[in-house]
Amino acid sequence: MEVIIKDTVEEIGKIAARLVARQLNAKPDTVLGLATGSTPLGLYAELVRMHKEQGLDFSQVVSFNLDEYVGLPESHPQTYDYFMRENLFKHINISEHNTYIPSGTADNCEAFCEWYERRIKECGGIDLQILGIGSDGHIAFNEPSSSLGSRTRIKTLAKQTIDDNSRFFSSPEEVPIYAITMGVGTILEARKIILLASGQAKAAAVAAAVEGPVTSMVAASALQLHRDAMFILDREAAGELKMADYYEWVQAKMAHAP
Ligand code: PGA
Repeated sequence: MEVIIKDTVEEIGKIAARLVARQLNAKPDTVLGLATGSTPLGLYAELVRMHKEQGLDFSQVVSFNLDEYVGLPESHPQTYDYFMRENLFKHINISEHNTYIPSGTADNCEAFCEWYERRIKECGGIDLQILGIGSDGHIAFNEPSSSLGSRTRIKTLAKQTIDDNSRFFSSPEEVPIYAITMGVGTILEARKIILLASGQAKAAAVAAAVEGPVTSMVAASALQLHRDAMFILDREAAGELKMADYYEWVQAKMAHAP
């Protein structure tokens, strides 16, 4: 696992964008796994800038989002569908047909989840997955106790997640209780994973994920089992890592490694 620590949240967005751009330049038909929330906003803003100013091309890119609230009407501004359109898709040249987001209004959720998993495979699997992390250690909406082998399914949100996300709604009662989410097992199949975290509120979850035991109580700890996972953190999110000095030493020495 690679851990990169930077001074500011702006820097982590820029580094992540450079890695995404490198991936797209190497494989223009990359399958991207995308996340929502506050954390990837800097990454998306930088990708939009790179598209507009440097011609970063998304015309062949396919994307799969991690999750979606169940039950919000499609026009609701807190759907992740809306989030993705407003913050990324409408500003770049990705084809609408190539952007997949779980449907929170499907009549048959189970059939939808099976289809979503199948569609990821039919598109060749996810090349590069972007993740945030919840203050309870979740990735996507895989709340504590989610099986590390789980697949796309409905999850009941944890109280802490509802409280954390209530800042986007007028009251905690308005936050949906259910979501469709890719499973931990689905996420682990991505070829490369980049998890972004910023702020002190994430420090304990990041430390548990990177340095704690692999446990379903901290879904992000499952990334320890992945062969190409990277955590990009600002200094506050890295604040509880015991080995922070070592990770910075590794980064400083990497260019000269044999
Ligand atoms: P945030 O959410 O980026 O809004 O903090 C991250 C998450 O819950 O995965």
